[in-house]
Amino acid sequence: MKNLVILTGAGMSAESGISTFRDAGGLWDCYPVEQVATPEGYQRDPALVINFYNERRKQLLEVKPNHGHELLAEFEKDYHVTVITQNIDNLHERAGSSHIIHLHGELTKVCSTRDPYNPHYIKELKPEEYEVKLGDKAGDGSQLRPFIVWFGEAVPEIEKAILCVEKADIFVIIGTSLNVYPAAGLLHYVPGGAEVYLIDPKPVETHTSRLIHVIRKGASDGVDELKGALRVG
Ligand code: APR
Repeated sequence: MKNLVILTGAGMSAESGISTFRDAGGLWDCYPVEQVATPEGYQRDPALVINFYNERRKQLLEVKPNHGHELLAEFEKDYHVTVITQNIDNLHERAGSSHIIHLHGELTKVCSTRDPYNPHYIKELKPEEYEVKLGDKAGDGSQLRPFIVWFGEAVPEIEKAILCVEKADIFVIIGTSLNVYPAAGLLHYVPGGAEVYLIDPKPVETHTSRLIHVIRKGASDGVDELKGALRVG
């Protein structure tokens, strides 16, 4: 089976009702990014940051995977599929995808403030635990923090993602403005002979001269069209 590697961003979940970051009215218009998505912001006002992610987590209970997520899961019948996502939601999992790399962390998990990537202290929350409070402690006694990779922090999963991308036969980019590195740089690791598709309703600057099949559509219609294109190709 061919290796199909898919890089997704906020646009993948837009049709499920989760807003993107940089579109008009997106999350970063409503919340200052340096306040809620940096280690400095967390240090300054942990309660505000914890609450911001509590709200995001609560939203998970109200949304569901869209047709695009479901189609990606169905690709597993015909391809060895890896989904590399910048999204912190769990919609790929809930749609049934089985190999998912979360580059920017996961909303459903919490970790230690002192030692965020120590696997001993990373904990999956049950829905009834989605509301984390200031004073809730990780296994090492420090405050429980959202398991999110903030701006300025290392991206520990990037090495694993690069290894997958280097073996891609087909690479698909869906719903990301490619503004944030190192995720945006993954395209440069795609082998020369692989086919590359990009699904987004708006133009995206890819910073490459290689051939990219652009599908100028939203995620659900776009993945539908991709399915047809892969069958023909
Ligand atoms: N279907 C597909 N793509 C869409 C849709 C849709 N229905 N609606 C919008 N988009 C596209 C936009 O055109 C844009 O190119 O999704 C992209 C969203 O871009 P961003 O808001 O910049 O989100 P993303 O690229 O995922 O951001 C990367 O930045 O803020 C950080 O950590 C955060 O993971 C995030 C990272």
